[in-house]
Amino acid sequence: MKLFIDSAELSEIEAAAKTGLIDGVTTNPSLVAKAGVPFEKLLLRICELIDGPISAEVTTLTAPEMIAQGKQLAKLHKNIVVKLPLTWEGLKTCSALSAEGIRTNVTLCFSEVQAMMAAKAGATYISPFVGRLDDIGQDGMGLIRGIRQVYDNYGYETRILVASIRHVDHMRQSVLAGGDVGTLPYKVFQQLLSHPLTDSGLARFMKDWETMKG
Ligand code: E4P
Repeated sequence: MKLFIDSAELSEIEAAAKTGLIDGVTTNPSLVAKAGVPFEKLLLRICELIDGPISAEVTTLTAPEMIAQGKQLAKLHKNIVVKLPLTWEGLKTCSALSAEGIRTNVTLCFSEVQAMMAAKAGATYISPFVGRLDDIGQDGMGLIRGIRQVYDNYGYETRILVASIRHVDHMRQSVLAGGDVGTLPYKVFQQLLSHPLTDSGLARFMKDWETMKG
């Protein structure tokens, strides 16, 4: 499974990159606005930190505008993946950019049918938001299982990029459900290895070792 960082904070991306375990980055307009660095400058800096797919979202709403903006973003760096909303205009854009060999990430997916439509439009990645579904009392992880089944049934090659991950158990369930990529806030990434038995086990090993030496 690939691991992406869901962040536009350069310090977080840099720290995560140092582990050698990060395969890519996803950003969205809210994260970019929070980071406060001009968009293109930020993307280029992220591309220096991680050599993998970097999702950059369009901020326009019609297909002609999204196509123009998507092409401009894709030109910035070979690793840029153009992120598009799951709307008719977004999917028209997805088909057009895919036909030109530009990679896409279709975002704000909340149903299996939406995911099937994005795959038909040639999306490289589909981003189902599990946390936001859980927030409204629906089954976020059930959606991942459903999309996995749809894509396997029909042989779609679109990658399932599990998004809106809020905690480590979302990650555990994503792995079991057959997600292709998990994109994680830095805070959740840091928690991935935490287990009380790992901590107590290591403390015991060290103590026993010191006792033997003594
Ligand atoms: C993914 O591409 C999105 O940027 C992100 O995962 C959304 O997460 P949120 O629902 O916690 O804002």
